[in-house]
Amino acid sequence: MEIDFWLERWDNNQLGFHQQQVNPYLAYFYGEKGPAVEQRQKLKVFVPLCGKSKDMLWLSQNAYKVFGVECSDRAVKDFFEDNALNYKRAEKDQHAFYQSSDLESVIELYQGDFFELQSSDLEDISDIFDRASLIALPVEMRQQYAEKMAALQKSGTRTLLVTLTFDSEEMNGPPFSVTEEEVHDLYSNSFSVQKLLTKDVLNLEAGLKKRGLTALTESVYKLVRL
Ligand SMILES: C[S@@+](CC[C@H](N)C(=O)[O-])C[C@H]1O[C@@H](n2cnc3c(N)ncnc32)[C@H](O)[C@@H]1O
Repeated sequence: MEIDFWLERWDNNQLGFHQQQVNPYLAYFYGEKGPAVEQRQKLKVFVPLCGKSKDMLWLSQNAYKVFGVECSDRAVKDFFEDNALNYKRAEKDQHAFYQSSDLESVIELYQGDFFELQSSDLEDISDIFDRASLIALPVEMRQQYAEKMAALQKSGTRTLLVTLTFDSEEMNGPPFSVTEEEVHDLYSNSFSVQKLLTKDVLNLEAGLKKRGLTALTESVYKLVRL
């Protein structure tokens, strides 16, 4: 999926992936099961291919610092404006960075291509939340994405990865089906990979069911950069 595909979707308001609610796995693993609030202030969470996800707001409201990357200028501006956050724009190395200027929320969004990020952009990142990012990409781009992720991260960086698995004959992506086997193929060379849970979500995803799916599972993995 090239960037133009996504920019067109933002222009046409085709945002079926956008969730009004905070992702329940984020709230569980970073909230209930996550570190104490005092420790969270030292953590900075990278949200790749972030769209205007409410998850970033939740992270910020729950004491984490946030760094997102998103190619669409519209998505980035919508994120701040929809959430009534003041923001400022800055240029760094010819890229646009948007930063919330409210003292209580440290949210920085890089507007540009994920594949152009440098490891220095992620040097203070402790955690990564990947929901609808890996699975937004077709198979050959997923390989490039996983390689880029390995190149960007320092040892010990943790990722919470959410995937969907379904019969690809039943529906064209995005989202794309990613099996457990593929997660291991993509990440096992450079990351420890642990599956945390799998859930049947067909009845929670009316839009995908309408597109033809007769079975759909969601899985959550913990990856740690070796
Ligand atoms: C399926 S959406 C998911 C958004 C977000 N993770 C969420 O949960 O709502 C994928 C997003 O990635 C963005 N995107 C796609 N390719 C990108 C790239 N190469 N660099 C930066 N953003 C990209 C798209 O504009 C889109 O907003």
